[in-house]
Amino acid sequence: MSQGIKKILLTEEDIKKRVKELGVEITHDYMDKDLMVVGILKGSFIFMADLVREINLPLLVDFMSLSSYGMNSRSTGEVRILKDLDFSVEGRDVLVVEDIIDSGFTLNYLMDTLARRGASSVKIAAFLDKFEARKADVKVSYRGYEVPNDFIVGYGLDYAEGYRNLPYIASLKEEIYQK
Ligand code: IMP
Ligand code: MG
Repeated sequence: MSQGIKKILLTEEDIKKRVKELGVEITHDYMDKDLMVVGILKGSFIFMADLVREINLPLLVDFMSLSSYGMNSRSTGEVRILKDLDFSVEGRDVLVVEDIIDSGFTLNYLMDTLARRGASSVKIAAFLDKFEARKADVKVSYRGYEVPNDFIVGYGLDYAEGYRNLPYIASLKEEIYQK
């Protein structure tokens, strides 16, 4: 086990199984749609790569990078676009792919933005849902797993840019992030 890890919450097998199920569900729901899958960098990059390979439909892949404005903005939910989409969402059925939803501020903001830009529909696929920490209202259409209100790493999720490459999902020891 990697250093600093408190507990493995989801194994590679758990992850694979759930991603496959989500792919089947999404394939079914977007059969006659114009699907554009938007990954939120960087955390979603591994989930995104696995998920699109389980979606048996033609689709467009794009990425966006967002950041909160810092401590103050966490309460206002203000979000900054660091890297915008390459393609227009106009008339497209957008599926936003996130690693984890925590307060919900990031996605709450993004949903509004994409709808205003003329997307036909905007839905969310989030692999993890830290539902106890939710502050903004967000509708998650495709959810991998619910996780406790701990600091989670692995499968794309980082702590200070580390741990993203762990093939499993784990909670981090408090002594690592409370330093
Ligand atoms: P929200 O706006 O509070 O929902 O924040 C969501 C974003 O914060 C996610 O896309 C992650 O990048 C990051 N995040 C939230 N909780 C965790 C965690 O436990 N581990 C790693 N990243 C997290
Ligand atoms: Mg993120």
